[in-house]
Amino acid sequence: MSSVCAAGARSKCLSTRFTSGLRLCSLILSALFTFTLVRTADVVSAAASPLAQPKSTRQVGLPLAATRAAIPADNLPTPEKVALGQRLFFDARLSADDTIACSTCHDPARAFTDGKAVSTGIGGRPGRRNAPTILNALYNATQFWDGRAATLEQQAAFPIVNSVEMGQPSLDAAVARIAAIPEYRRAFQNVFGAAPDGDNLLRAIAAYERSQVSFDSPFDRYTAGERNAIGAAAQRGWELFNSRAQCNKCHALSETKRDTTNFTDNDFHNIGVMIVRHDVVRLAKQARELLTSGDAAAIDRAAIQTDMSALGRFLVTKKESDIAAFKTPNLRNLLLTAPYFHDGSHATLWDVIDHYNKGAGLHNPYLDADIEPLALSERDIDDLVALLASLTSPAYREAAAIELARQRELSRTTRPQRDTVRAFGPKPMRPKPAVTARHGARVREHAIAPGHDRYAREAGAGARYAGAAE
Ligand code: HEC
Ligand code: HEC
Repeated sequence: MSSVCAAGARSKCLSTRFTSGLRLCSLILSALFTFTLVRTADVVSAAASPLAQPKSTRQVGLPLAATRAAIPADNLPTPEKVALGQRLFFDARLSADDTIACSTCHDPARAFTDGKAVSTGIGGRPGRRNAPTILNALYNATQFWDGRAATLEQQAAFPIVNSVEMGQPSLDAAVARIAAIPEYRRAFQNVFGAAPDGDNLLRAIAAYERSQVSFDSPFDRYTAGERNAIGAAAQRGWELFNSRAQCNKCHALSETKRDTTNFTDNDFHNIGVMIVRHDVVRLAKQARELLTSGDAAAIDRAAIQTDMSALGRFLVTKKESDIAAFKTPNLRNLLLTAPYFHDGSHATLWDVIDHYNKGAGLHNPYLDADIEPLALSERDIDDLVALLASLTSPAYREAAAIELARQRELSRTTRPQRDTVRAFGPKPMRPKPAVTARHGARVREHAIAPGHDRYAREAGAGARYAGAAE
């Protein structure tokens, strides 16, 4: 019903035409849809919150071409489809016992995350990974920390059937539950001209997620030419980010091309997050045996429910160089998405930067070559935090200010990741990979110096990294 979009909310619609001729109706959906589809007693009120609504594409910094390119031809958005997806996203009846919605772990009030180190699903069961934001997920080249899903449509099918997330025995079971509800039958008929089915259910959810574009931050206004939109500290932080702090080695399109949009190279890196806690050699062997079939559901279970989760991208590619490599995430709205990293192991942005500053994971032979001690001063660290804070979209400004104050306070007394000696020390030698030396793409070759043959021994076949000091 793009006619309603055009007639009822013309001023709110992006007038850009898609190749198909359809218009992307992109600002907050009109009260009409909110009332008829979202605001029913059975859907948690969060669905009706302003933070949950589809976003305007008129935001400073929003990449129009990339936004269009992120919309697949077989799932063009209409206001009705997006509203249906929004309703489903917030509806706990998609889960096996009516308790868990997508929004349980992707809460708009927390920039579509859950504030937990690792998410808990049905029956309070914990998974192994931290919930990433849905905001700007449409631009991700792959979905999940290990990229095991190619599209938002594919991604949405996994949590519905994972037994520690929404716990449905099958996607069909979820569809049957939804199809038993008359309003949904009507909405599917209206949007897709058919009764509810799995593909269309996933399409509607994905269409809603693609409406969650988040820019318009002080940093975006700064890049657009408003020189005073961010303070001096954040400006210094941006220069550091692209130079001495080396963040641009991964959070940029390439080392010479700054990325002021998504801050990611869309690649996977082992940056040494807690890898020493895991016996990755044993886990890799286990994963190779278990996952020979390449069965997507088996990989999902391994990632969410087992120690093999720590293997990251390796679960998908089985390449040794991908052991404990995770996707470079977008860096927007971080003050709403703590704690950080794939396992939620770092509480504050100061902890994250301390991690990079010491060149974390010295005993880790798969560590990305670009991770090394950075010798950042306390002022440098504060400047980088100021930069990251400037990437907050307006809807989260107040919440982010409160969180920044909380983190700053905490960082004054608690800096568990800080290691100044290492941060300012020499670049350490790295052990060689333990499984085989065949795939070393991202592992910089190091001659093992005599003083470091202890590491070489530790890294020998079958070596454990578990328990070693990081
Ligand atoms: C129990 C909590 C939980 C529920 C329920 C849940 N998710 Fe997630 N979601 C997560 C976690 C944890 C991850 C990261 C998992 C991983 O990378 O292996 C994730 C990842 C994602 C991603 C990938 C984002 C990125 O940057 O790679 C998307 C998109 C997503 N979820 C959407 C959904 C949708 C849609 C639903 C409902 C159908 C849903 N989630 C239900 C916890 C949850
Ligand atoms: C070698 C590539 C690389 C470099 C260099 C790098 N990052 Fe990252 N960054 C990543 C990857 C990969 C992750 C996810 C890792 C994980 O969770 O295990 C990440 C995660 C993060 C996170 C956590 C985001 C979240 O949603 O949890 C922040 C914040 C961050 N990086 C900021 C920085 C800053 C600031 C710098 C420079 C000091 C930097 N990164 C340098 C690759 C890199």
